[in-house]
Amino acid sequence: MADSLVEAARQARERAYAPYSGYLVGAAVETEDGAVYVGCNVENASYGLALCAERVALGSAVAAGARRFRRVAVVSGSEPPASPCGACRQVLAELAPDALVIAVGPSSRQEWRVRDLLPAAFGRHQLA
Ligand code: THU
Repeated sequence: MADSLVEAARQARERAYAPYSGYLVGAAVETEDGAVYVGCNVENASYGLALCAERVALGSAVAAGARRFRRVAVVSGSEPPASPCGACRQVLAELAPDALVIAVGPSSRQEWRVRDLLPAAFGRHQLA
């Protein structure tokens, strides 16, 4: 795969900690200036505490000072490939509303804009 963002997500997937579901996910976010931050899913014996790869990647990016995102790659082992869960869509809508999401599986790839994955998102404009 020529796209280095997808390759970064693929490598992060190899570090996923998913002993309960066995479903390994890697994510990589790209900032407007080309920096890349990665994440993988991190599960827990208390199942509901599982962290999704997308939110781990976004958290890592924000912790490093990044704020403006261009693309998010998500690599999983299923067909169709994983698209971000509802919670991740909400976090993406907050931090990366204009980003392109690229979901990659073993044999297919799908793309969406974040705003199309969560239309009419709740946001800070409603808190005023
Ligand atoms: N998961 C992700 O990390 N990202 C997705 O887009 C879909 C789901 C994780 C959460 C959990 O660890 C496992 O995949 C099964 O749901």
